[in-house]
Amino acid sequence: MSSPRKFHAVRGVRDILPPDTSLWNWFEATARDVLETYNFREIRVPVLEETELFARSVGAETDIVSKEMYTFTDRDETAISLRPEATASVVRAYIEHGMQMRPGLVKLYYAGPMFRRERPQKGRYRQFYQIGAEVLGSTDHPAIDAELIEMLTVLLERCKLDNWTLLINSIGDANCRPQYVQKLREALAGVKSQLCGDCQRRSETNPLRVLDCKVEADQVIINRLPQIAENLCEPCREHFAELRRQLDLRSIPYQVTPRLVRGLDYYMRTTFEITSPHLGAQNALAGGGRYDSLPEMLGGPAVKGIGFALGEDRFIEVIQSAGKIDATRPLDAFIVWMGAGAYPAAARLARRLRQQGLCVELPAEEPKLRKALSLAERLGARFAVIIGENEVREGAFAVKRLADAEQRKLAEADVAAFVKTTAPVAPRTGAQASQT
Ligand code: HAM
Repeated sequence: MSSPRKFHAVRGVRDILPPDTSLWNWFEATARDVLETYNFREIRVPVLEETELFARSVGAETDIVSKEMYTFTDRDETAISLRPEATASVVRAYIEHGMQMRPGLVKLYYAGPMFRRERPQKGRYRQFYQIGAEVLGSTDHPAIDAELIEMLTVLLERCKLDNWTLLINSIGDANCRPQYVQKLREALAGVKSQLCGDCQRRSETNPLRVLDCKVEADQVIINRLPQIAENLCEPCREHFAELRRQLDLRSIPYQVTPRLVRGLDYYMRTTFEITSPHLGAQNALAGGGRYDSLPEMLGGPAVKGIGFALGEDRFIEVIQSAGKIDATRPLDAFIVWMGAGAYPAAARLARRLRQQGLCVELPAEEPKLRKALSLAERLGARFAVIIGENEVREGAFAVKRLADAEQRKLAEADVAAFVKTTAPVAPRTGAQASQT
């Protein structure tokens, strides 16, 4: 019989394994904590939506919708897609549940997987994870934009990341953008043939996206195209100036980047990104912007919106390369029991330590002492608790700190407090070890 086929994860998606998952959990808990201090509350939206929702919000001509969605026809013939992003779902849910009736601004955050069938590369996956925040309500004051950005910088600080850049831009509104796009279209008509294939196509379908082109040879030509900053209407110009003042008063450094148009059609006015030099080509840690007409476009009330999403995969990558956060949870105690008579005491102790919040490993089968101690060391246990039948009779267990082999006898009731309060020690060097 031939051996059964082994399966692999589908191309572009991956498993996230321990110990990395500890850092993911730390990051998610930290992000929730920061977001909730800014009075954001979690919303859980489905992974599946009608394809039409993304076509209408993200835009049918965008790469995301035209090329990258995982779409299937459901049994009732509805076209369904795995979500490539969650802003559309949040706005859909806001409208569906009449959330405009809630007092004040509605501030929501979400965390979870998104799906885009992009070409996999470092920092780019087909299933990736985002944490995003959205603010919906009747005002579009730039203080909201600035506070949202401030919140991201606070999260970066909590992750001990300082090597990042905030890029900001304004891409105008329904009043000034159509005229700018027309100007761009006209300018592109003259140079289109010198641009890459994608830009030639975008010049027709979505001229703004030409500004986002990364092809080296195109850059000189694109830099000479008309800039949106010089074509904003007065209210958009003032909105952008106030955003910069609001960032200044918060001492948040930024770079005005006139070509930052972003790849989703719902944006207007403010757009922003946080980039990191650690990430290579896929250097955006987070991106967002205003989408003031999206709720109405989806049949909802005339409220304004702004938000961002950060890429968790990329945050984890830079946190790991900065090496300043240790989120691993140590194994506090490995219990070595010897003799059937010792097992009940070992099981009782394990339960007692775990009730105290300690992480404990209890072998199911009677181990050999040397083997068990070696396994405890390889597992990174801080302490080994050795329980033989003698110890049970005496009512005192041998507690050995594995880093320096210091050992003491403790009553069952005292083990938890000792393990909890004894600080970890650095492993001894060979020289120190040989002196004892
Ligand atoms: P986005 O720029 O498409 O915006 O994605 C936000 C972040 O998700 C990116 O900056 C990046 O860190 C991460 N990301 C995107 N694609 C991938 C991928 N294939 N692999 C790994 N990470 C990725 C949005 O999704 C908007 N919904 C953000 C927003 C919220 N705007 C307003 N509200």
